Amino acid sequence: MDITQFRRNIERLFDIPTAQLPPEAGAIFQEFKSLLNTGAIRAAERTASGWQANAWVKQGILIGFRLGKLVDMSINAQFQFFDKDTYPLHKFTASDSVRIVPGGSSVRDGCFVAAGVICMPPCYINVGAYVDEGTLVDSHALIGSCAQIGKRVHVSAAAQIGGVLEPVGAVPVVIEDDVFIGGNTGVYEGTQIGERAVLAAGVVLTRGSVVYDLVNERVLMATKESPLQIPAGAVVVAGSRAVTKSEFARDYGLSVSSPIIVKYRDVRTDASTALEDTLR
Ligand SMILES: CC(C)(COP(=O)(O)OP(=O)(O)OC[C@H]1O[C@@H](n2cnc3c(N)ncnc32)[C@H](O)[C@@H]1OP(=O)(O)O)[C@@H](O)C(=O)NCCC(=O)NCCS
Repeated sequence: MDITQFRRNIERLFDIPTAQLPPEAGAIFQEFKSLLNTGAIRAAERTASGWQANAWVKQGILIGFRLGKLVDMSINAQFQFFDKDTYPLHKFTASDSVRIVPGGSSVRDGCFVAAGVICMPPCYINVGAYVDEGTLVDSHALIGSCAQIGKRVHVSAAAQIGGVLEPVGAVPVVIEDDVFIGGNTGVYEGTQIGERAVLAAGVVLTRGSVVYDLVNERVLMATKESPLQIPAGAVVVAGSRAVTKSEFARDYGLSVSSPIIVKYRDVRTDASTALEDTLR
């Protein structure tokens, strides 16, 4: 398939008001979704200058919401669901080698889930997400829309990887290969986690987070042009910093949350985050 031509079709459809979308729009969208399902296209990819959003892919996802009609997707009278008909559940077969452990997980159509991925119940993988080989998505974890998750990532219980669908030019959350995302963490607003980094339980990272790197004695934060980037191998724990800019804050000894890079990954960290191969 000529992806460049296909991309032009999507961009053309995106500019047409919903009520005037041509009859072929539905078929183009179905083809678009199957390319997302196979991983042939993705919402963001790594280039020589870093991660870039593919705005047209995010436009295609939004076209799906515009085309979709609310339908009854109920399994029976007790187990009811209602959603856009363009976004049913993703269809798997055993030959996909993805383990979806019984018990209430949902993977939405229009996302890539590679062989060897394990989904522990309940978890949710949203449209546009890309989850690469051997990654574990534990119970109560969210892989938000368009999030890009690398190989052998451990997304621990209750970790929330936020979705970034709009604006279409914004790079989604990116978790690179071999990262360990601890329990009860949150990674939002396009934050990028470099390979082999470790987020300790409870760390929350957003565009507004200020992260202190004790090892290199530097302060990391997002800028207008780039999201917050956690360096490869960093071990980030939940921390705080004093609020000193007002007398009130000083009087009450207030502090705000401020994640801290306490070290870079070593053998001790590897031992602390080792995955049990026999469970895989
Ligand atoms: C981050 C983690 C992996 C430990 O990494 P480690 O490399 O073994 O860390 P170390 O024990 O060498 O500790 C290094 C420093 O960080 C501190 N530290 C470690 N974990 C910390 C945490 N969670 N919060 C705050 N500080 C922490 C240590 O006290 C130590 O400080 P010091 O140098 O002043 O003594 C571990 O704390 C953690 O969060 N594991 C994830 C648990 C989890 O979410 N499991 C989910 C299973 S579903």
